[in-house]
Amino acid sequence: MLAHDIAADALLTGEHETASPRLSAADAALARHSVRSYRDVPVTDDELHRLLELTGRAPSAFNLQPWRFAVVRDQQAKDQLRAAAYGQKQVGEAPVVIAMYADMEDTMAHLDEVVHPDLPADKKAGTIAMLTNTFGSMTTEARGVWANAQSNIALGYLLLIAKSEGFDTSPMLGFQADQVKQILGVPATATITALVALGRGADDGFRSHRHSIERVATFV
Ligand SMILES: Cc1cc2nc3c(=O)[nH]c(=O)nc-3n(C[C@H](O)[C@H](O)[C@H](O)COP(=O)(O)O)c2cc1C
Repeated sequence: MLAHDIAADALLTGEHETASPRLSAADAALARHSVRSYRDVPVTDDELHRLLELTGRAPSAFNLQPWRFAVVRDQQAKDQLRAAAYGQKQVGEAPVVIAMYADMEDTMAHLDEVVHPDLPADKKAGTIAMLTNTFGSMTTEARGVWANAQSNIALGYLLLIAKSEGFDTSPMLGFQADQVKQILGVPATATITALVALGRGADDGFRSHRHSIERVATFV
């Protein structure tokens, strides 16, 4: 069994039991909606670790995984983030706020971490050269936008996985990015993908409503 299969296996076993029964991806997709009011119940290190591990299973182009997470539990830091998020109360109230961001400069500086470990040395070097060339010819801003698109894939994973593991979330883009970066020490070149308030909801939030398939899909 390959190393990553073993890791995936550990995530599936009872090694990380949670209090609430897990929901399938389909059930979590149907059950999740934004929750903006939270109970004062802490999220443990183990629970957070598992959520981030599962989120990190998201795919990305070239497997670059440019997403990064600033996990905030300190009340003072959450209060500062709340001010940067136009006073949105869930930022101060949720036990955890995850600032997801894309850091393409960090990614570029460590391309050796993302090339497939099974590649022979010459192929690894070739892949790193190709990636350096491809992204090095873009502006910092353009590759930041590219990285943020990848990070949004992981954001979707996080929201769904959180629900499946028994947590509620509130994704947010309503914040002043410069202030969030300053509070959390996130590099200026990074892009904040979203703030995600996470915990156990104190209410059910609004009922979700969505487009019909006919409205958004064509079948050829
Ligand atoms: C990327 C993103 C940014 C969002 N920003 C905010 C926000 O700043 N404040 C807020 O209250 N809701 C925010 N939302 C929540 C959306 O309004 C919500 O997801 C949408 O209305 C669908 O409702 P549901 O999440 O309950 O299914 C955001 C959602 C996403 C995915």
